[in-house]
Amino acid sequence: MAASRDSQPQTIYLKNYKVPDFLIDETHLDVDLQPSATRVNSRLVMRRNPAAADPAAPLLLSGQEMKLLGISLDGRELNEGEYELSDETLLLPNVQDRFELCVSVQIDPAANTSLEGLYKSRTMFCTQCEAEGFRKITYYLDRPDVLSVFTTRLAADKALFPVLLSNGNEVESGELENGRHYAVWHDPFPKPAYLFALVAGDLEFIEDRFTTCSGRDVTLRIFVESKDLDKCDHAMRSLQNSMRWDEEVYGREYDLDIYMIVAVDDFNMGAMENKGLNIFNTSCVLAKPETTTDLGFQRVESVVAHEYFHNWSGNRVTCRDWFQLSLKEGFTVFRDSQFSADLNSATVKRVEDVSLLRTLQFAEDAGPMAHPVRPASFMEISNFYTLTVYEKGSEVVRMIHTLLGAETFRKGSDLYFANNDGGAATIEDFVSAMEEASGRDLSQFKLWYSQAGTPRLQVTDEFDEDAGVYRLTISQSCPDTPEATAAEKQPFHIPVAIGLLGEAGNLAIHLQGEAPDTETSDNTHRVLELTEAEQTFAFTGLPERPIPVLLRDFSAPVKLEYPYSRAQLQAIMSGDSDGFSRWDACQKLAVGVIEDVMRAHRGDRNYQVDQALVEACRAVLNDQSLDPAIVALMLQLPSEGYLSEIATVIDVEAINFSREYVKAYLAGALETELNAAYQANTDTGPFSVDAAAMARRSLKNTALTFLVKSGSDLYVQLAQQQLDGATNMTDEMAALAAIVNSDSALAQKLAPVVLNNFYRKWQHEALVVNQWLTVQAACPLSDGLARVQRLMQHEAFDIRNPNKVRSVVGAFCGNNPVNFHAADGSGYEFLADRIIELNKLNPQVASRQLTPLTKWKRYDEKRQALMLKALQRVKAEEGLSRDVFEVVSKSLA
Ligand code: TRP
Ligand code: ZN
Repeated sequence: MAASRDSQPQTIYLKNYKVPDFLIDETHLDVDLQPSATRVNSRLVMRRNPAAADPAAPLLLSGQEMKLLGISLDGRELNEGEYELSDETLLLPNVQDRFELCVSVQIDPAANTSLEGLYKSRTMFCTQCEAEGFRKITYYLDRPDVLSVFTTRLAADKALFPVLLSNGNEVESGELENGRHYAVWHDPFPKPAYLFALVAGDLEFIEDRFTTCSGRDVTLRIFVESKDLDKCDHAMRSLQNSMRWDEEVYGREYDLDIYMIVAVDDFNMGAMENKGLNIFNTSCVLAKPETTTDLGFQRVESVVAHEYFHNWSGNRVTCRDWFQLSLKEGFTVFRDSQFSADLNSATVKRVEDVSLLRTLQFAEDAGPMAHPVRPASFMEISNFYTLTVYEKGSEVVRMIHTLLGAETFRKGSDLYFANNDGGAATIEDFVSAMEEASGRDLSQFKLWYSQAGTPRLQVTDEFDEDAGVYRLTISQSCPDTPEATAAEKQPFHIPVAIGLLGEAGNLAIHLQGEAPDTETSDNTHRVLELTEAEQTFAFTGLPERPIPVLLRDFSAPVKLEYPYSRAQLQAIMSGDSDGFSRWDACQKLAVGVIEDVMRAHRGDRNYQVDQALVEACRAVLNDQSLDPAIVALMLQLPSEGYLSEIATVIDVEAINFSREYVKAYLAGALETELNAAYQANTDTGPFSVDAAAMARRSLKNTALTFLVKSGSDLYVQLAQQQLDGATNMTDEMAALAAIVNSDSALAQKLAPVVLNNFYRKWQHEALVVNQWLTVQAACPLSDGLARVQRLMQHEAFDIRNPNKVRSVVGAFCGNNPVNFHAADGSGYEFLADRIIELNKLNPQVASRQLTPLTKWKRYDEKRQALMLKALQRVKAEEGLSRDVFEVVSKSLA
């Protein structure tokens, strides 16, 4: 159903927040499920909010895309003159201080392609209410600071929908006439409407248990279509691990007797933390070795953990309003990243998170949709489920953790949960709990929540050899963003973790004027606190000029500039104790070498690949003491996305050419070592997804990708062998991608054949087919647009399914820069067409897919003009959703 609106969307401001005029003590829902005509009867036990500003305020409920069948107040049916109905509201001018309101509506789940509210996914009914989807189910106070106790009665055809689920505990069930049946669910915990969920379908489940720290027994169930029952074990183990971890690390115990997860195929995001009834995108819950890559396994583990952790950070303590979204999301992402780091390799996890942040969040922070971690305004809240709110929000929590230390941070989180349990909180509440626990003043720190943009640190240094004193001078600035100019911004409070590296390793750090610290065991690591626009830190007692290792473990989400020489980067790569910094030094080295080639490419000079990079990579490959996963990460050259982010003007072709050139050069120069790594990391024993086995596969497949890049037929054949003999999707996919992406004659001859065979083998596994679509849509070889247009005609494609859209449109426009940015603008016109099509079907997905066009300012003038033309065509479209309107109009502002 189109979410068209005639008038221009309103902007909502944080500064206008008012407490609700009414409260809803009890919510009784009676949902009679029919695909095209579902009846929802609600009974709301309501009263005026004693804290409301206006004691005579009328009752204003939200509601959209429903047919109102009847309203009664305290048992009396209202006639049409007693209420006012608009497209998005229902107003009752006269209500008492306490009353019961019954509303009956009819909705059409089968026609709901927005996947918000109640909709059908394949054969089942399900709901998605965050952020403001509940208002498509019934008229309500659909805001997170209205918490209510829900009782839900579901009725449906028993043969088609044998399973009926909602939040909390099942309290009753039975048979009805005409082959229908019903179930009643009661959730004892008051919750906002965005955490409501219901599911009805022909589902099966796997079941296990978890005994909590206080000895309570919790039933765990994962519901899927029967064909997917064999793909639930990993999610179940991940859930149990999450439950244990949250008890051990945060002291958080689960609170209901049952925890349910349901997998659905049509879903706008990854998953949703509905109380006691999580709903998951199949891509984030199903996993088995034959169909799922290691990355997929890790994603399942972290999303299951994320949604589970929301039970405390989000559900028991929820958000006062949607401006506080990062209160639950930033904190929960931080919690799930700690969990993944604890269960797997901490360095690998950190490198992955930082790469995402520096590539995509930094780009968001530099674009027209840039916003603070706590936005001050929005038109459509769905547009603010962003990398800034999630990932940068998590980095902000991580900085508090770094400043306070693990123990004090835990005291602060205990205090936060205790003070706000059962309530709707603000970011202010979170930070004040941290202040109270630590006795520290975090008022300057809070600027991280209100100022947008990525701060830039410039570092200079000097060494006084006679005195043995080394000085670091750090200055900070933050660029203009839509809500404030650089000049208006205040200096941030930034933790800068450092080490000092000498000839023989890390040096002891003594800050001038400070008593020597006898307590800390590690005197080679320090967290400097930058609070001013410019600050100098002096270190004493240094026998030699040190190499500064700055921003260890990426201690703050900033861009740091220090003129490292390549020799210094190599020294950090081999000598520093921080794994993240070693990787980062390798990236910096590779960036410099790729930029050399870019300069040569522009000037038509000879390409020279600096031997420093070759030798650094050789050393990494030969270092038996390194985790193979780290070796793989160090070898992987900075992505085109990252190289674009750090470029002054993005030259798509030069970036692609130079990166590929360096990759081929390394492949040739390191052939022996890569071959050895491939052989040494090939497992023959039973398959495992433990960190060590994944690490070996990662290095093996990185080596394969390089070797195929060397152009020799020998390695194309090796990839084909691996593809044919693969017993797991990680190896199968890596081999397929290596062949498809190679421009060698043999590979290009093989590609159509292997793609076809792969499809025939996997056509009944939707998630595998999605990966097959992605490989082709992201393939950088020429004629990408024609390939993508063919994929859209393929039987496997369906524009109504967000996973398919992400696999084809998302992969092409976001992950295939040379083809999407074709000089004739054909990629831009393609995307504009898709946005216009999706705007009517699914505004949330449409608006998200628009992101690549919003970055138009970063390209050359010709491309800018073409991108603007595509954006203007979208803007001129009739009936733009609020979602798309906000992004397109801010991009053109
Ligand atoms: N709260 C969910 C999470 O991060 C994500 C979410 C928000 C979502 N809005 C959604 C999921 C809409 C699906 C659809 O865990
Ligand atoms: Zn979340």
